[in-house]
Amino acid sequence: MNCNELNFDSPRVLELVEGGFKKLESEILACKACALYKTVTNKVIGKGSHNPEVVFIGEAPGKNEDETGIPFCGRAGSILDEMIGYMDLPEHDYAVINAIKCRPPNNRNPLKSEINACKPFLLAQIRLLDPKLIILLGNTAEKAFCNGRRLKWGIPEISEESGITLLKIYHPAALIYQRSRTDEQKELIDRNRHLWE
Ligand code: URA
Repeated sequence: MNCNELNFDSPRVLELVEGGFKKLESEILACKACALYKTVTNKVIGKGSHNPEVVFIGEAPGKNEDETGIPFCGRAGSILDEMIGYMDLPEHDYAVINAIKCRPPNNRNPLKSEINACKPFLLAQIRLLDPKLIILLGNTAEKAFCNGRRLKWGIPEISEESGITLLKIYHPAALIYQRSRTDEQKELIDRNRHLWE
């Protein structure tokens, strides 16, 4: 199925939403829609609140996440945690998920077909979590969620399809060894505090 054809009202998404978090989790664990399931140790579903104000969407699990089944638990995760600390977001107010739930071999970028195969899960997660704000961590999250629409870094936009505010900022991994980007990211956060405070 073409990514652009799939939306919140697609029968598959509605079916997943209807089943609730438990059914969604078991469907993700059983999924063989692309080849990535063959090479993973653990699928990585998400972490955090089931009733969040803010959902962070990352790219895909890396090595640490594949080993543990927990998103953002390695180096990029420490940077994300620092960022969330800087945002002053309480733990019960956010959740963290990825565009795709299986680690691509050698941490290569996810293929479009893999992003599309996982998209019903991403949309169902967003519907169930029902946040006020989605923070897209980098280009893959944007590609997966925005049907080809490009957002400007740090400029919030309301998604016509979902009515949820979207904000694209740098992926935490893009901040490693990049002091200037870290400062820029903090400015993006400072400019947008009204969205979650
Ligand atoms: N990078 C991501 O995008 N997601 C993770 O879970 C870890 C690293």
